[in-house]
Order: sequence, then structure tokens, then C-alpha cells
Amino acid sequence: MKEAKRHTITAALPYANGPLHLGHIAGCYLPADIYSRYLKAKGKEVLFVCGSDEHGAAITLRAKKEDTTPQKIVDKNHAIIEKAFNDFGIEFDIYHRTSSELHHETASEFFKDMHGKGAFIEKTTEQYYDEENNQFLADRYIVGTCPKCAFDGAYGDQCEKCGSTLSPTELIKPKSTISGNVPILKETTHWFLPMNDHEKWLKEWIETGKLDGVQQHDASTWRKQVIGQCKSWIDNGLLPRSITRDLDWGIKVPVEGGEGKVLYVWFDAPIGYISATKQWALDNNKDWEDYWKKEDTELVHFIGKDNIVFHAIIFPIILKSHGDYILPTNVPANEFLNLEGDKISTSRNWAVWLHEYLEDFPNKEDELRYVLTSIAPETKDSEFTWKDYQTRVNSELVAIFGNFINRSVVLTHKYYDGKVPAQGVLSDYDKEVLAAIEATKLNVDELLAAYKFRDAQTEAMTLARLGNKYLADTEPWKLIKTDEETVKTIMNIALQLSNALSEIFIPFLPNTSQKLKGMLNSNGLTTLPAEHQINKAELLYQKIEDDAIEIQIEKLKATAVNQSNPKAKPMKDEITFDEFTKMDIRISTILTAEKHPDADKLIKMTVDTGIDERTIVSGIAKHYKPEDIIGKQVSVLINLAPRKIRGIESQGMILMAENNEGSLAFVSPEKVIDNGGEVR
Ligand code: MF3
Ligand code: ZN
Repeated sequence: MKEAKRHTITAALPYANGPLHLGHIAGCYLPADIYSRYLKAKGKEVLFVCGSDEHGAAITLRAKKEDTTPQKIVDKNHAIIEKAFNDFGIEFDIYHRTSSELHHETASEFFKDMHGKGAFIEKTTEQYYDEENNQFLADRYIVGTCPKCAFDGAYGDQCEKCGSTLSPTELIKPKSTISGNVPILKETTHWFLPMNDHEKWLKEWIETGKLDGVQQHDASTWRKQVIGQCKSWIDNGLLPRSITRDLDWGIKVPVEGGEGKVLYVWFDAPIGYISATKQWALDNNKDWEDYWKKEDTELVHFIGKDNIVFHAIIFPIILKSHGDYILPTNVPANEFLNLEGDKISTSRNWAVWLHEYLEDFPNKEDELRYVLTSIAPETKDSEFTWKDYQTRVNSELVAIFGNFINRSVVLTHKYYDGKVPAQGVLSDYDKEVLAAIEATKLNVDELLAAYKFRDAQTEAMTLARLGNKYLADTEPWKLIKTDEETVKTIMNIALQLSNALSEIFIPFLPNTSQKLKGMLNSNGLTTLPAEHQINKAELLYQKIEDDAIEIQIEKLKATAVNQSNPKAKPMKDEITFDEFTKMDIRISTILTAEKHPDADKLIKMTVDTGIDERTIVSGIAKHYKPEDIIGKQVSVLINLAPRKIRGIESQGMILMAENNEGSLAFVSPEKVIDNGGEVR
């Protein structure tokens, strides 16, 4: 295999049906961005493309739920996603969208070309149909009981409770989500990709990297889980897969008999990489075909593990059956990122949203990049916790990297007016440090080329750690009193190391690198010559305080949704039994009740608490008429500090139960209890 002349890097097109969370970033966009910045820093010709995935039934369904149109849903989310990528500093060369005209044209042509070549088969099958609405039901439009785990909200394509992939006819008690009726089975014709015809070459290509005997890529560089998943698919036997749907949102099927049907979202979305390239080429006066059809182009797809078969099996089949296209050199898929002990879930709102992080932690993009790469789920699932985030920022970025740079720059100003001192005679330790700088550059380069981003960053950080230790060991601030010559050498080496860090960290921590280059005044310099003038020190990082972390943990818990009862409010913080017993709640009888003279929501009552008679004001006028509640037994919190409510002092509080829709009911004893009876 020759060295690639140019690189086409793709990152999975995010669905425009919701914002991005940290799992998306750690799984796909951050490693893709690191890889692209790495190659660009080496002066390579790189095209890094992405865009919004705007078709599919998940989006039409959401539009229905929110009583709006699919276009409005994708417009809104496309804007949110694009802004978050920008603010976070994921540097795509183009961020496109699949609802664009150019994409519709491109995908439509692609389908027609393949159709013309006989790359598809047509099949008539029975599918669920909603008779009330006269429409076929996409998999997502059918819910029922999961045959695997008995969860009763499983979709026709997937159970979100147990994660099983399903087909609609497997669901027990299927129901149309549009009408709520039981759907009927009805015949419909679709186009299928005969994946079974492609098993042979695919198997060889996946296992050996060869296509028709010719080496395409080095299969040993592919991640185990990617090869494993593909092999198990192929070994189980590939089946024809339908690539059209009965739906009205998407790219119209452009051949005879396609009326009322659209391309399956997983057929059109990966073609989105190609249409993005076309748009970029138009904007930049380039030839898009160089990036997709030339053997000396390296094509790399960054994705999360749920996308593996689409990028390593289905899309390659599509590209090869179309003809003229290159196949991916690698598909570095990541495993999943978990969050605070649980799977990330958008439906339960158990997620840290990127745009919210950027609001809550302004100018801390690199801190998040650092932590997410440190825990990158490259070989197995990993976990993000706010405590761990805080620890890594404080004890690594602040205490090691930031501290080392700050000392180097501050001491240079203190001793030499900011001019780099010349190196003198080198000790063994000095030589060791200089050798480590060169070794680190090589190692990081090699690891990045092998898609080992986590190890590469660890290696880079090890050099910063060495720099920090070097200063701590040599103590130039003490030595300056006795041996000025040696201090010059030490500070020179510390500055060379700082400069090396500014280069090495470019792909990982681009903002830090830039800031550091600014401080060292070192743009374009691989080594800093003696007498080179550097700029004033600025802090690279600031400590993350405990309260910032606690706020995030609280927010996560408070906004989480309980799936079995999504409307139920989340549980409050734990209390002790002693705290509970402080409340004095008594059964009381309402003696009188009248509307509050100046507020129509309030009722003024007198109650017999068994201890005394007192006045209570309560906001229940919308739920009860005064005359209907006289004589009722209720529960009253009697040791609540009295409060004035609209001019009347309320001496306690009547307990009310509230249902999801907001209507109120008294909490009354289930049989008659003496007034004053304790509730505990
Ligand atoms: N939207 C898909 C997801 O989020 C990814 C599509 S990748 C593409 O899982 F290749 F189809 F574009
Ligand atoms: Zn299930």
C-alpha cells in the first residue's frame, strides 16, 4: 500500500431530531477532529465532512408528537447542532445537511445508477398498514410488547429497554402509533439490496483487507470489535435488505413504481458524505471525485458502535455495486460512553448536552476534550462522571501541564527579561529530557496514525509531567543563588519542552496550543533560539471548584425522566428519620370554609386540630367549593411557622395530593380518626 495522497474523513451525520450529548462527542466527533487536525498539522491534504441526517421516521414521528412539520424539526435541530459543533471547535471543512437540494439530487442519481445496473431486486412483502389513516406503517410507527424482555413500549425496529433489534411482526400486540388501532398486514413492493450476493468479497475484504486479491488496507489496523461485529453478521448469512420505505418524508424513489415511497434513511444518509464533498468542492473550486474515486485517497469513517454494519458492510456494498468508488481504509468505531453509573438515554434525559456544557463552562472546550479523550471508549464502554472530570482537570491540566508552563514562562521573565537563555553543558538528566521530547513526538505520531487517541494523549501528557518533574527536581529557583550558568540550561530545556508541548497538543487541545504558542511567541519555530523573546505568562487552566460539579450532578438528577412514568417528578434528596419526625402532622376536621375576600384561588378555613382551633388559608378554590368541604377530615402540618397569605395569617398547612394533570385532592384518613391523631 502506498502512502495516501489525500484523506477524506467522515464523521457520522447526527440525526437532526435532538441535540448532541457527550456520548456523541466522545464516540465519534472528537476522535475524528483529532485525526483531522493531526493530519492537517502534518501538512496533509485533508477533507473533513459531516452534516445533519434529516430524514427517517424518527423525525416524522417527532413532528407528529410536537404537532409541527418534519422540516421545522430538522431546521431547528440542524441549527442547534451546527452551533454546538462550532462553539466546541470541531473543525469540519463543511457541515452539510441531507434535506438540501444537492443531496436529494445526489442520492437520487445514485439510486438510479444502481437501479440501471441491476444492483437491486424488487420484492413484495406484507407490512403493517393503518386502515384508518390509509398508510403503511414505518417500523417506528408501530409499538407493542418486546418479545425479548416484555417491555410494552418497544418499537417495530428496536426495543429501547433491552436494546434488541426487532422487526415489526415480532412485536406482541402491535399497535399503530398514529391511530392507536391494531394494524393489518398488507402487501407492498420495495427495492432490496441483495446483500447475500456480496458475502464472498466482503468476507475477504473485512478479514484480510484484500479486494479481488489486491491489498487495499492493512486489516490488522482495524479495531477488533469492528471486525468481530462484521464477521458475525457475515457468518450468520447476509439477507436482502430493503432500501425503500412507504413514507412521505425523504428522497422520493426516482424510478417507476416508486410513487409514495422514499429511500430508506440509511441508504441516503451515508451518501450525504458525498453530497457534502460536492458542496465543498463547488465552494472551493475543487474536484469532488478526487476524494471518492482515486486509489491514492484514504477514506476513514468515524462512528459509534451502533453504526458499524452500516459503514463496514452496507455502505461498502452500495459503493462497490455502484462502481468507481473507493472503499474505506478504516472504520474506527468507538464503544459507548456511560454517564454517572448509567447508560446515556435521551428519552430519560440522562445526558450531558454539549450546548449546555458550553454555556455552563465557558471557554472550557479543551478541558472537556482532554477528559473525553482520557476516557475515550476505544476498546470498551467507559464512563463519564463529574467528579472524574474535576479530578482530571485539577490534578492533570492545572497541577501538571498548567503549572509547568506557568513556571517556565514566569521564571524566564524573572531571570532573563523574557529572553530564552542559551544552553550550556548538558547533564545526563538534561539529555534524557531532550531525548524524551523527540521520542514523544514520534510515539504520539505513531499512535495517532493507528487511531489510538487515548494512548496518544496519555503519551503527550507524560511529557508535560516530565517537564513538571524536571523543574521540581532541579529547583532552578534555589539554584539561581549558587549556580547561574546551570539555571540557564535548565530554563532553556524547560522552554524547549514547553514549545514541543504546544506542537504535540495541537490535535488534542487546540485552544491551549494556540495560547501557548502565543506566550512563547513561537509560531513556526520547532526550537527556540537563544535570545528569542517570549511573551507574558497567562494561566492556561483554572481549577474546577466543588460547587460547579455539584450543580451539574444536581441538574442531571433533577431533569432525569422516569421512564415507567415520565410525568412523575424525580425523587428529592434523601433525608434522615429525625428530619422526618420534625414534621407534626395531625388529622383535623374542617369547621368553616369561605372564599378569601381578595383572592379567588384561596379558601379561608377554620380547622379543629384536636389541640386547638386555627385559621388556615389554602390555594384550593379551583378544586373545591367551600360548602362541600365543611366536616371533612384532612391532614394538617401544624408546626409550620405561620405565614401571611394575602393579608390573612395561615397557621399551618393542609396536605394535598396532586396528580400529573395538576388537580388536587385532600389526604384524608381512610376511616374516622380522632382529631389530633398523629400522621407518621
Ligand atoms: N444518524 C445516524 C446516527 O446518529 C448516523 C448516520 S451516519 C451516515 O446513528 F453515514 F448515515 F450518515
Ligand atoms: Zn426488550
